[in-house]
Amino acid sequence: MASLSAFQLNVFLILAFTVTAFSALSPYYYDHVCPKALPTIKRVVEAAVYNERRMGASLLRLHFHDCFVNGCDASLLLDSTSTIDSEKNSLANKNSARGFEVIDLIKKEVDKICGCPVVSCADILAVAARDSVVALGGSSWNVQLGRRDSTTGSRTQADKNLPSPLMDLPGLIENFKRQGLNQKDLVALSGGHTLGYAQCFTFRDRIYNDTNIDRNFAKESRRTCPRSGSDTNLAPLDPSHDSFDTAYFSNLVKYKGLLRSDQALFHGGSGSTDRLVKAYSYNAGAFSSDFAKSMVKMGNIKVLTGKQGQIRSNCRKVNNY
Ligand code: HEM
Repeated sequence: MASLSAFQLNVFLILAFTVTAFSALSPYYYDHVCPKALPTIKRVVEAAVYNERRMGASLLRLHFHDCFVNGCDASLLLDSTSTIDSEKNSLANKNSARGFEVIDLIKKEVDKICGCPVVSCADILAVAARDSVVALGGSSWNVQLGRRDSTTGSRTQADKNLPSPLMDLPGLIENFKRQGLNQKDLVALSGGHTLGYAQCFTFRDRIYNDTNIDRNFAKESRRTCPRSGSDTNLAPLDPSHDSFDTAYFSNLVKYKGLLRSDQALFHGGSGSTDRLVKAYSYNAGAFSSDFAKSMVKMGNIKVLTGKQGQIRSNCRKVNNY
């Protein structure tokens, strides 16, 4: 009997641990504290995307750049102070990351409707990413909620962890692995490049020097991006850059990936991701569903919960109590 109780206790402890470990976040987190929070985020995102369709791409990218630097804790949103070297000044973000004003507006509207700051900036980034994808024709998913905001940011960590467009496949795999993400996550999440634009300096080397590139595509891209100068000229990451579809993957199969890191996923070396790129290129359902799963997984990276961190009143600044 005694050993049975010990056994039962063990089972109970394991269950309790599992529940605590995996239910830190919940899609229902704001249902009671502020049921209007999610509809408000959606309304502001839809208006912003209506105003400028690229904004959906920019908001999706913000969540990714937040999560890859010390977890999804809105560290990306903090401006520089005497003690914080803002992630906004890192190589991948400076003169590139955009949409911060939309996040400010969401925060203002959400705090107004909720009556006080109960929704974290980190959760706003996660929900805005999902709502952006949906606004541009992608399928929806349940966003896990209850993240709290960091009290610091790190430009050094951003430089170390945000992947470069010049990375090869092993580099990308290693970069994602450090975040607990596998090759499937890498391919599915890179599908985020079905939206938005890249600046000339990020793909110049590829269109002038790479051999795994469609000749006509390279020629055409060179018109937007000369050998020198015009660094900030924009080219779409996928021809249908305003709609969430599988064109990004069918482009890779045709050697029309804009970034070297995009083409690396198909015939870019080891070949371990080729099959998946091909599968997504003709199976929109598989891409949508895997993208959603990987977004949830990415959204769980090193989140702050419970008494950790804080709920900022202003997403750009740490609260001073
Ligand atoms: C796999 C490694 C990745 C690399 C090397 C990479 C690199 C880049 C680069 C260089 C740009 C263009 C930035 C500019 O020219 O200003 C860009 C844009 C973008 N990235 Fe990524 N990215 C990666 C993964 C992701 C992921 C996982 C997502 C989202 C799930 C994402 C979403 C976007 C979006 C939506 C844009 C367009 C943003 C806009 O138009 O404002 N990227 N990325």
